[in-house]
Amino acid sequence: MEEPWIGDSSRGGAVRVLWPLLLACLAAQVIGYKPVIVVHGLFDGSSDFVNLLRFLSQTHPGTNVSVIDLFDRAYSLQALYGNRVEGFKEAIYPIMQNAADCVHFICYSQGGLVCRGILSTLSDHNVNSFISISSHQRPVTYGDTDYLKYIFPQFVKSNLFHLCYTSVGQRVSICNYWKDPHHQDMYLNSSDYLALLDGERPNPNATMWKKNFLRIKRLVLIGGPDDGVITPWQSSQFGFYDANETVVEMKQQDIYLRDMFGLKTLDARGDLVQCVFPGVQHTMWHSNETVFTACIQKWLT
Ligand SMILES: *[C@@H]1O[C@H](CO)[C@@H](O)[C@H](O)[C@H]1NC(C)=O
Ligand SMILES: *[C@@H]1O[C@H](CO)[C@@H](O)[C@H](O)[C@H]1NC(C)=O
Ligand SMILES: *[C@@H]1O[C@H](CO)[C@@H](O)[C@H](O)[C@H]1NC(C)=O
Ligand SMILES: *[C@@H]1O[C@H](CO)[C@@H](O)[C@H](O)[C@H]1NC(C)=O
Ligand SMILES: *[C@@H]1O[C@H](CO)[C@@H](O)[C@H](O)[C@H]1NC(C)=O
Repeated sequence: MEEPWIGDSSRGGAVRVLWPLLLACLAAQVIGYKPVIVVHGLFDGSSDFVNLLRFLSQTHPGTNVSVIDLFDRAYSLQALYGNRVEGFKEAIYPIMQNAADCVHFICYSQGGLVCRGILSTLSDHNVNSFISISSHQRPVTYGDTDYLKYIFPQFVKSNLFHLCYTSVGQRVSICNYWKDPHHQDMYLNSSDYLALLDGERPNPNATMWKKNFLRIKRLVLIGGPDDGVITPWQSSQFGFYDANETVVEMKQQDIYLRDMFGLKTLDARGDLVQCVFPGVQHTMWHSNETVFTACIQKWLT
């Protein structure tokens, strides 16, 4: 499984690059697949993407894939804003500069939120497809998942707001996108990341961020009801709970209706793709060949 890793540029641990085989290189010159940048999620790292890399090398031989290897495992709890998004930008920007022909983003779970931060704040990015795999996009998780019990053993979903909506809580990434539907005002007041990106909390850069985000050619949202971690699972599709914990679909959400960061524009352009699959658990999304074939492969040309 490890043989695709022919080289590893990551001496300092920053970026691992999949060097294509010679034959694949020639194929790439003929077919010209765009480079792919993969950003991982909470508690995982680049080694979890072996299957995805195999699917890619089988279907699009020669694709130059960079799995960004910052903030792995426990470090992925670090807050999303500030250093974290900046750190990813530093690793990713040179890859974009090398790619005259644009790049694609595949962003998994919490990585999807990192990618949104990059796409909104980088005014000259050249990302073509933004593929968000089981990421709490509207998100903000609200559920008693195993992750929650592991990170905050003393808390359950109904009282986590006490911790999350403080300046200390906001230093932990999960609190940046924790949204308690019973305490929405507190969320808006204290979320230093998602509420800003979503445009729900006023901020002077919102217009610019929207323009930057809309440089993408398409947004692909992948998720499904058997995910088990993303709660509600519809938040992978920009749905979320109302105050009664009833799920409100994306197209009834304020952020869509008011086009707060570009979602409705993307949809009107025909560039919003929703891919919903049953029978896939959270940690299996990037390893499932059915999902790859139906929802990822065709957007990576
Ligand atoms: C793959 O991309 C990296 C990062 O942009 C670049 O340094 C490297 O030269 C590329 N490899 C090939 C074979 O194009
Ligand atoms: C929101 O923040 C303001 C200013 O810090 C504060 O006065 C207000 O009580 C906060 N509202 C909530 C619901 O926390
Ligand atoms: C808005 O953008 C400016 C210039 O890029 C930056 O210095 C500032 O920190 C940004 N504000 C927020 C709230 O991100
Ligand atoms: C929540 O449920 C209550 C009681 O059934 C109802 O009065 C209220 O309108 C509901 N709120 C929303 C946002 O649907
Ligand atoms: C892969 O995805 C298909 C389609 O949703 C699903 O039926 C199957 O259970 C998945 N397999 C795994 C191992 O997740």
